[in-house]
Parts: sequence; structure tokens; C-alpha cells
Amino acid sequence: MKIYDYVIIGTGVAGLNAARLIPKDKKVLILCKMSTWNCNTFWAQGGIASAVDENDIPIHINDTLTAGVNYNDKKTVELLSKKSISTIKNLIAAGMKFDVNEKGELAYTKEAAHSRNRILHADGDATGRMMHVFLLEHCEHVILTQSVVCDLLIKDDICYGVQYFTSETEQKVVYAHNTIIASGGVGSIYRYHTNSTANAGEVQGIIAEKGLPLKDMEMMQFHPTVVRGTNFARKPLLSEALRGEGAYIVDENGYRFLFDYHKDGELAPRDVVSRSIFDYNKKTGLGVFLSFETFEKKAFKKRFPNIYSNLKELGYELPFERVPISPAFHYSMGGIETTLEAKVKGMKNLYAIGEVACTGVHGANRLASNSLLEGLVFSEIAVETSLKENFKINPENYDKPIITYVRNKEIDKDIKDNLREIMWTHAGIVREPKNLEKSLEIIEGYLKQNVGRLLFLRLLTAKSILKSALERKKSLGAHYIKENE
Ligand code: SIN
Repeated sequence: MKIYDYVIIGTGVAGLNAARLIPKDKKVLILCKMSTWNCNTFWAQGGIASAVDENDIPIHINDTLTAGVNYNDKKTVELLSKKSISTIKNLIAAGMKFDVNEKGELAYTKEAAHSRNRILHADGDATGRMMHVFLLEHCEHVILTQSVVCDLLIKDDICYGVQYFTSETEQKVVYAHNTIIASGGVGSIYRYHTNSTANAGEVQGIIAEKGLPLKDMEMMQFHPTVVRGTNFARKPLLSEALRGEGAYIVDENGYRFLFDYHKDGELAPRDVVSRSIFDYNKKTGLGVFLSFETFEKKAFKKRFPNIYSNLKELGYELPFERVPISPAFHYSMGGIETTLEAKVKGMKNLYAIGEVACTGVHGANRLASNSLLEGLVFSEIAVETSLKENFKINPENYDKPIITYVRNKEIDKDIKDNLREIMWTHAGIVREPKNLEKSLEIIEGYLKQNVGRLLFLRLLTAKSILKSALERKKSLGAHYIKENE
């Protein structure tokens, strides 16, 4: 029987950076659900936050905690910020190219809730894509695409490997000494989102099924500025860096209403901006727009080339025209509970990194552009820990039956659509306990139906979001409760 040293689930920043750091002589298999670019990293625009220098570490920590409403795990935030400088330095030394200013120095920009410019970017507004391309180019291990994970082989506190679909009907098992989960967030269980379609929270569902800990699942982040009125569930993002550099939000009469909600207006923490847009639109019925009139065209095109051309395709001439916006689901702060060593809590050789994990770094509201950083830092930690511990499984000790799953069933489509609608309407920007309760009942009903394996796992994830939302009785950060009327 072939045993890999590592199986990595996911090819976003966290999974690929882990792969880059694992020595070439190790046997590594990377499972990718769709195609390699089908991940949230690929779509990340704004950039990657980092402490600019030693003096900036306490300020970056403080900004992260303030945005996270001090619900963050302080130790993890300190670790993230302290490691950010060396992590970025190492990445640049390995060949990653970030944008530089006229003097050839790293060009840092600003995003909401950062008290100084500390966001690195690449190809203007295509930071995620450039990083993804860089990491793929530096990946020396095998990537299997169209490999959809449907189970983890877990007995006691050891993970023996992974079971995955290779087609609609076929499935395989791979054994590994170390398993690293880097499968991303839950965007596709929401009606409107900014995520890759691959991110549907199935692995979080497996963790729930095994009775392993998920944490802060109610903490879902909604990005304030996506383009309204396009056809697909995945909405085009208008990076927060636009607001960081002067774009602002107005109603259809040109009024900057965000200052009525927070002293920092458009640059208030993301949860505040999203909720204020939602509330203002509901109260006044007025449309909400992003205005770019502070930009000069040539500079705008140079700094935001991809946003410029994407919006042109949608019929907008930037920076002259304002664009209708609304918030959409963006990022899951909660996820698989991990330790400071990036291990799944309670497990010996199972790691979770990136958006799928809940390290506690983001608290109740993630500070913009801390996510790519988290993926890089915690993938480094997972690889360092696993190399040091050199844990070995004995596959003969795994004596549980391997179940043959049915991937999809005919009834799945309608339930999937309803699930997205329910989560968007009732586990969204503003939540009401009575609606959360009703939604949970519906999801529990779906779970009793004979659905396909992938939908079953999504439903388990949705259930854990709804349960956590119901358990948190008071509003905190991204979890905002409207009292029953
Ligand atoms: C953005 O460019 O606005 C996204 C940044 C992030 O989500 O951290």
C-alpha cells in the first residue's frame, strides 16, 4: 500500500504554500476540487497585509483586534503579525513580485480599519491571482484536479487519510502520515457571494460529522462593495483598496450617508460598512453606489487595471461613472478550530490552514487583507510542525469500513437552491432568532432526506452556522441580531 507523507486538500494560498515548503523528496499528493484556479485566492484583489517593520507590529496587532471587536485570540494575532515580516521577506526572496513605487520600494496601500498603509499588492489589483500563479509555478508536487473530498479516515486522534470522488461515481482512498486541510470557506452556500464556486464548506461538514470542533461558525463576513445587478451568484468585487485610496460610497442623490453611522465613514470596519449599507437601503429605499470621482483616469487604469477592464466589460467607464453596489458574502471567520501549531484541535496529524480554519486571528470581523497573510503564515507553521514531529501512521490500525457514497442525487438541486436562499436571507448581515430557528428546522428536515453526500456535508455546515448563530444571543461584530418584534 502506498502511503504519502502528506495529502493536502486545496490549491489556494494556504495549500500551495504548504506544498512549496514541503521538501521535494517527500511524497505529497494535492487534491484539488475543480481546476487549480477555482479558489478564493485567485479572486483576491486588494492585497496582503503585513507589519511594515518592527514598530508597526503592535499597531497591526491593535488594528486586527479592533476590527475583530477584541474577540480575536490575542496570542494568534501576535504570532501572525510577528511572523508577517519574515514570511513576506521569504516569499519575495523566493521570487514573488509585489508592486513597487517610483523609488523601487514596496508600494503599500491602505484599506478600511488599517491605521496606516501596509497592504502589499501585485499587478495593481490582482494580488491573489499573481500569488496563485507564483505558488503554482513553485509547486513541485503532484496536483490531482477534479478530486472532491468526501471523507476523512479518522480513528481516535489520528487521521489516516482521505477519501475522494474522482468522477460522479468513482471514489478513491489515499493514506498519508499527515493530512493538511486547506479547502477554503463556505461561499457557495450563500445566494450572493464573491467566492469561487468550489467553496461550499463540505470539509467543515465532515469535521462536524466526526464530532471534531468547529468554532465561531456564526461569524460570516459580508464585503460591502460588490457590483449589483449582474446575473451570477458570484458577484464582481470592488476592492476595499479603492476606498482606501479615495473612492467613496453615496446614495443615488450623491449623499455620503456612511458618516451618519460611523466616524470613519467608508473606512469603518467592514461589518459596520456592510450593515450600514443594508440598513440605509432598507430604510430609505435609495440605491447605493461607489463613486470614483477622486481618481484621474490614467492613474486609475494603472493602479486598478483589472477592475477597470472588468467594469468596462459590464458597461461602466471608470472612474467617470459610479457603480451600483451592495454587500455580498465574502469570508468565513469561523471554521475548523486549530491550535497555535495549525493542528485541528484534539488531533495528532491533521492540520487545517487558511479560510477553512478558525485560528482565532480574525475574531468577530476580519481586518481587510489579513487572510492571504494568515494562509501563508499558518501553512508555514503546519509544515514546520509536521516536519519536526515526523508522525507516522500505521494504516492497518484503521479498521473502520470505507463507505461507498453517492455523490449527487436528483433531489439535490432544489434543496441546494433553497439552502442558498435560506442562508442569504436568514444567516446574513442581519439575523433574527425566530428566523434562525425556522431555518435550522428546515435544514434538519433536509438532512433527514436521502440527499447526495456532498449536499449532506454542506447541510451539516449550514446547520453548524445556524446553531452557532442561535447560541450567540447578543450581537458581536459580523454577527448582528435584530431582536424579535
Ligand atoms: C478586497 O480587495 O477588498 C478584499 C480584501 C480582503 O477581503 O481582505
